[in-house]
Amino acid sequence: MKRSQLFQAIAQAIAFMGAVLIVAASVEARQPPQQPPPAQGQPQGRGGPPPAPKNLQVLPKDTPAQEVNARMQVIGQSLGVRCEYCHVDEPGPDGRRDMSADEKPTKNTARVMMRLTEEINTKLASGLGKANPVSVGCVTCHRGVPIPKQLPAILTDAAADKGMPAAIAQYRDLRKQYYGGMAYDFSENALIAFANRTAAAKPDDAIQWLQLNLEFYPKSARSYLAMAQIYNRNKQDKENAIKNVEKALEIDPENAQAKRMLDQLKSGH
Ligand code: HEC
Ligand code: HEC
Repeated sequence: MKRSQLFQAIAQAIAFMGAVLIVAASVEARQPPQQPPPAQGQPQGRGGPPPAPKNLQVLPKDTPAQEVNARMQVIGQSLGVRCEYCHVDEPGPDGRRDMSADEKPTKNTARVMMRLTEEINTKLASGLGKANPVSVGCVTCHRGVPIPKQLPAILTDAAADKGMPAAIAQYRDLRKQYYGGMAYDFSENALIAFANRTAAAKPDDAIQWLQLNLEFYPKSARSYLAMAQIYNRNKQDKENAIKNVEKALEIDPENAQAKRMLDQLKSGH
């Protein structure tokens, strides 16, 4: 075999292996979870077969216990919660366990949500005139958290209610807990976009958000540039604007926007 053929064969083998991995990963990702995170979530864990459901109001009344449980596991995963978030399901051999009880308000909210989700899917099918539209599930909105509030809304409310130090602490906590999951966007650009939206009303807060971003992304030229723009536009502070453009250019010397801005700032326009 010629050298070039050998390389080609190796490249093909690598591409094939990559494809196998991607397929394997997506199959895994699409598979509904077989087990809920807590072992105690298994009704079978207390001995005997699961009892037939007796308080179904949304699901068809005759839905078999196993199917109800399978659905419940998907619901728990979609919200990142355990069964006891909605059910009376105390731990330990003597703990009270009554999945039929409607004591927890979250269970009733979940019923509202089940109906809502069904309605969305029905309207999608009829409204789009499509036989098989992409179906919406709890996870579409919830993405692994019980209250699917977006990060910018969480931060805005936290800053308004508790002040910036508490809001920043909350960001750090959320990042620690959820980084790498699908609930919140912790990418470099997310806080920049948020800071830009905050800048007109609260330029000092916006600068603090960008400083926080630089802790996590110290080489973020875009954060320095955004900071420069806020100093210039919203705070009329040319000196700090220039300092920050210069930092952006240190990191990314070819950044055309930064170069232009520095020229403008230095020529006094
Ligand atoms: C987010 C809330 C929520 C979570 C979490 C949840 N459930 Fe449920 N569960 C419900 C709701 C709502 C119903 C009632 C559905 C209906 O009325 O059709 C229900 C019904 C049931 C029933 C039928 C009870 C009966 O007798 O009618 C069982 C069994 C059950 N859940 C088990 C579980 C298990 C096991 C878990 C954990 C893996 C779990 N659930 C997690 C909301 C939840
Ligand atoms: C279209 C988006 C959407 C879908 C789909 C959706 N939810 Fe929700 N859910 C929300 C929103 C928004 C809230 C917060 C409402 C509020 O302000 O209290 C919420 C709140 C909840 C809560 C209350 C949490 C708490 O602690 O207060 C439960 C429980 C819940 N959803 C369960 C479900 C379940 C189960 C499904 C799937 C059957 C589902 N949701 C599907 C948007 C959705």
